[in-house]
Amino acid sequence: MTGAGISTESGLPTYRGKEGLWEGHRLEEIATPQAFARNPEQVLRFYNQRLKQLRQVAPNPAHLALKELERGFVVDIITQNVDDLHERAGSSRVLHLHGRLSQARSSKNPDFVVELGEEGFFELGEMCPHGGQMRPNVVWFGEAVPNMDLAIPLCQQADRFLVVGTSLVVYPAASLVDFVPRRAKKAVIDPVLPRHLNREEWLGLEGKAAEKTPELVRQWLNEAGVEAG
Ligand code: OAD
Repeated sequence: MTGAGISTESGLPTYRGKEGLWEGHRLEEIATPQAFARNPEQVLRFYNQRLKQLRQVAPNPAHLALKELERGFVVDIITQNVDDLHERAGSSRVLHLHGRLSQARSSKNPDFVVELGEEGFFELGEMCPHGGQMRPNVVWFGEAVPNMDLAIPLCQQADRFLVVGTSLVVYPAASLVDFVPRRAKKAVIDPVLPRHLNREEWLGLEGKAAEKTPELVRQWLNEAGVEAG
């Protein structure tokens, strides 16, 4: 399970903390349906900036290590991130809990989704065939998280569970760790380890994702009898 911290070393800011995205903006003015209804131009500008930034960065060793882990395990990535760095690193099974920045969707019909492609942006006045303004296909505060229904069984079936770079303060996503069986081997990587994870059950690796993830992946592949490439 990954959060904004895994993409920090690619050059994308996290949400909370010093220099976090929500530090410079009031969350209620950007990431809510009410904000979009009130000031769509400001909201689209914010997400267009994110999109522009995303196109200038690349996966880092943490994303690449999780792809590498597939050599020994069936790896399901549950990410809260709206970036596509796991896909670009080559991971085959990626579930986005909070949507994807590279897609627009109708504000009238959540099922009407289009890919923006390499150069597309969110445009005020761009409508779906039913007259709904197109918006980022991301989950805003106060909106449902439909992919929780897919994420919960993945957590319940896990033999191993790794959490990388999330403050685990946003629900329902943060509740996923409660679905992981007691018997599963669990680890968390973060420079500031989330406090509420029981340290008897969770191996805490304090540090940066790009450094710690490849180390842990090497160890897990070793345990699975696979030589790291
Ligand atoms: P946060 O910004 O809340 O937390 C980022 C986490 O990454 C923190 O625990 C940092 O300590 C950690 N971190 C920072 N640098 C790191 C590094 N180099 N390596 C590893 N970890 C590092 O981001 P999320 O937990 O992802 O949702 O936030 C959850 C949700 O809140 C987001 O998906 C977004 C946001 O509002 C929506 O917009 C719906």
